[in-house]
Amino acid sequence: MAKVHNARFDAAPVFDEGELLSAAQLAELQLSRLQWSVRHAYENVAAYRVKFDAAGVSPDDIRSLDDIRRLPFTTKEDLRQNYPFGMFAVPVDQVARIHASSGTTGKATVVGYTQKDLDVWATVVARSLRASGIRAGMRVHNAYGYGLFTGGLGAHAGIEKLGATVIPVSGGQTARQVQLIQDFAPDAIMCTPSYLLTIADAMEEAGMDPRSSSLKVAVLGAEPWTEQMRQELEERLAIDAVDIYGLSEVMGPGVGNECVETKDGPHIWEDHFYPEIIDAETGEVLPDGSEGELVFTSLTKEAFPVIRYRTRDLTRLLPGTARPTMRRIAKIVGRNDDMIILRGVNLFPTQIEEIVLGMAELSPHFILELRQAGRMESLTVKIERRAEIATGAAEEGAKQLVRRIKEIIGTSVDVDVVDPGTLPRSEGKLKRLYDLR
Ligand code: DLL
Repeated sequence: MAKVHNARFDAAPVFDEGELLSAAQLAELQLSRLQWSVRHAYENVAAYRVKFDAAGVSPDDIRSLDDIRRLPFTTKEDLRQNYPFGMFAVPVDQVARIHASSGTTGKATVVGYTQKDLDVWATVVARSLRASGIRAGMRVHNAYGYGLFTGGLGAHAGIEKLGATVIPVSGGQTARQVQLIQDFAPDAIMCTPSYLLTIADAMEEAGMDPRSSSLKVAVLGAEPWTEQMRQELEERLAIDAVDIYGLSEVMGPGVGNECVETKDGPHIWEDHFYPEIIDAETGEVLPDGSEGELVFTSLTKEAFPVIRYRTRDLTRLLPGTARPTMRRIAKIVGRNDDMIILRGVNLFPTQIEEIVLGMAELSPHFILELRQAGRMESLTVKIERRAEIATGAAEEGAKQLVRRIKEIIGTSVDVDVVDPGTLPRSEGKLKRLYDLR
């Protein structure tokens, strides 16, 4: 660990007292904040008022946390229909910042923040970084993209709030990233897991041993990644790789974060974001521990409150550990929309990642190509062999990969081994699936 310069922060076990609330205190705070948030949305956003009225529910009906179940869900479609500012709960001239998520289809989703929202956001990100093992006085290389994407500026404000030094590099220009890491000797890096893999490759190309860099911690998120990917990155770079979760509609990065001492899934910062897991088909709320779709209600947001927003992320809610009263989420399996249905079998790219990363002959660089020939659908895993592995050995690995996917997922795929460095490299969110149908 690098030298800590700010004793005030380091003396406390956490960044702020919100993390230390007892279960009873947290529940009480959540209820009063929920009541405020629901009323705020109802009184200031026509779309919420119309939906609540149609469902026959009013803010006065929220007397306990469980009453949240009486409220209708909010979907991405609701946000699209009110593009760009129709879901804002304050006049636009009180909005201090706007972000937008591009999305793959249709219009962007636009979100807004008051000055107070920005302060809460910076606080939850500072909390997240503190939980990741970063301290005031450390240097943080921020390679999340700056701009409308929430990653860059969201992380940036949290690094500053923690009292650490921010190096605002943004994404891309990988050779330059490597140079800056060498020159500025950061303690920590923030980027997507797939981009850290790209950076590690570029370090090697530059003749540098990734394990010898100054980096000690990586705070990785914005895309699904597996335990196997964590192991790969920790081993390759001699770092702790910690998971940061979030989404624009709910805030941005820092809705939840893993604690470095346990690395057992992001703790949701439940004093600001209330999570539920539902059955994606029926909308029924599922008990903690069940896999389903993650739903969030914002408890403190002024400009852009969200009530029971359906994230489409599939995961489970687990009991708190390092922060005992804040529940965790298990690693995200994928989004509903990432699910591939191949000849009747459902599969997620993360399942393939889990299998691939366990194989010594094959690199972690792979893409999935979905094709249709007549009525026959096929999935090809295009994967680079590792540079030090001969083509013959890699072909053996490919055969084994086909067998393991069949055994574990239950479907037949083709595996196509390609030369090192021939597949596109991630510079941010990785595009894993190419639908060529
Ligand atoms: O990706 C916010 C973010 C930036 C989070 C930087 C973490 C770090 P969006 O662009 O709106 O916001 O995309 C949100 O990305 O619904 C998930 O599907 C996915 N995602 C985000 N973090 C994780 C994670 C940002 N840790 C969408 N694990 C979410 C898995 C994640 N998926």
